[in-house]
Amino acid sequence: MQSVAPRGRPCDKLSRHRRQRSRHRRQRRPCDKLSRHRTLVRVRTLSLRVNGDDVEVAAPDHWTLLEVLRYRLGLTGSKQGCDKGDCGACTVLVDGKPWLACITLAANAEKRAITTIEGLMPAHLRAGGTGPDPVQAAFDKCGALQCGFCQPGMMLSARALLDKNPCPTRPEIRDALAGNLCRCTGYTQIFEAVELAIAESLGVAPAPRSWEAQRMKPEEAQARAREAAARLRAEREKRGA
Ligand code: FES
Ligand code: FES
Repeated sequence: MQSVAPRGRPCDKLSRHRRQRSRHRRQRRPCDKLSRHRTLVRVRTLSLRVNGDDVEVAAPDHWTLLEVLRYRLGLTGSKQGCDKGDCGACTVLVDGKPWLACITLAANAEKRAITTIEGLMPAHLRAGGTGPDPVQAAFDKCGALQCGFCQPGMMLSARALLDKNPCPTRPEIRDALAGNLCRCTGYTQIFEAVELAIAESLGVAPAPRSWEAQRMKPEEAQARAREAAARLRAEREKRGA
């Protein structure tokens, strides 16, 4: 017999079925369990601006931005990791700031500029650049990924940081990416990739990456790292002045 929660008490089956529904969605399987508990779902038409395009999309009222992006618009670059605001895999830019799409109601993102990882390179091209966004190119050059699940969120958080502060220090990079968890790489290559993107965009020679430094004599690697740090420091002072 179907269990019904007493009036005024939350029904724990509902959250279980929601989790099941999420799993089934990931597996692209239809799920009818939720419908037992759901009486009426209101669907609304949302007006969103995604990656420079105005789109109208119909979705249930309670859907998150991540659900709309992935399951209505097919933009699967934003990843569904923890689905509760812990891992940062779902990060998208909303008006240039990193937002966690899994805990943002889609309706709250209406009439704002949303950028997903799919829109990063087109935005760079529209701004007059060539090829991928420098952050994407630097992640590629540094091999800053393994399974790649965290990368879209990581790159978008890095892009938001560099738009705000073109010459951040390592602690500032660390702070900006603190909400993006990576289960694979150990972060060194990720921080080096952001530093490479900074050096290239400022036109200064970057410090040797960790694997390059291992192939050099220790004194040479240290000297090059010191030179790069001095160049970046000078650049920061120039910009701060
Ligand atoms: S999926 Fe959004 S924070 Fe983990
Ligand atoms: S590369 Fe696998 S989670 Fe970051």
